[in-house]
Amino acid sequence: MLILRDIRKSYRIGPTEVDVLKGVNLEVQQGELLSIMGPSGCGKSTLMNCIGLLDRPTSGSFMLDGVEVAYTNDDALSDIRNRRIGFVFQQYFLLSRLTALENVALPLVYRGDAGQDTTDRCMELLKRVGMEDRALHRPAELSGGQQQRVAIARALVGSPSIILADEPTGALDTQVGGEIMELFKTLNAEEGITVVIITHDPGIARQCKRVALMKDGGIVE
Ligand SMILES: Nc1ncnc2c1ncn2[C@@H]1O[C@H](COP(=O)(O)OP(=O)(O)O)[C@@H](O)[C@H]1O
Ligand SMILES: [Mg+2]
Repeated sequence: MLILRDIRKSYRIGPTEVDVLKGVNLEVQQGELLSIMGPSGCGKSTLMNCIGLLDRPTSGSFMLDGVEVAYTNDDALSDIRNRRIGFVFQQYFLLSRLTALENVALPLVYRGDAGQDTTDRCMELLKRVGMEDRALHRPAELSGGQQQRVAIARALVGSPSIILADEPTGALDTQVGGEIMELFKTLNAEEGITVVIITHDPGIARQCKRVALMKDGGIVE
């Protein structure tokens, strides 16, 4: 479903050009549970931003379900992003003034798809991630692991074909991080959702069916 060919990304800082991605080649099949692992600074988040259509590569080809998307215009890109991709970040990024339920609904609100069945759907997803009894709590009333569960429900609400998670356990202790990984594994196994987990932690990467090793702006295996 994803095919990246020779993806390069450079940033210009003043007079100098910094090459962050130096020709990434990667294929991800529907239903995979893949981790992209590498040391801090090797370009993982930059790669995730390109795969997630949050940023554009400098050159290369990126096919998403058979469509070249690397250079699509901004409006079309955000449309594809909203419909196809669910994001999970290390810092959760829940809105503090909204309840867990309202946070889960937010992507539907943004894309104008919220309707009568939205509350039911969001409750169902909160149940899926084990948070149904916290639906009316605000983020400050939830632990880190609970906030990440809500963020995963939010990532699922638009029925994405792929979930991209950038260091999703990075702010959690080992046990809670393990529980979050179990949740990703269950969603992948039971619902066939494609999950890509970006991590610097070999213990997390090892739990995925496939590990792509990243080093210095490229994928080495
Ligand atoms: N917007 C940017 N402008 C300039 N340099 C950047 C930018 N984003 C990332 N970089 C640089 O790219 C390199 C890789 O960053 P990143 O993708 O965040 O790595 P990782 O997620 O693997 O830690 C770092 O050296 C970082 O300083
Ligand atoms: Mg990063």
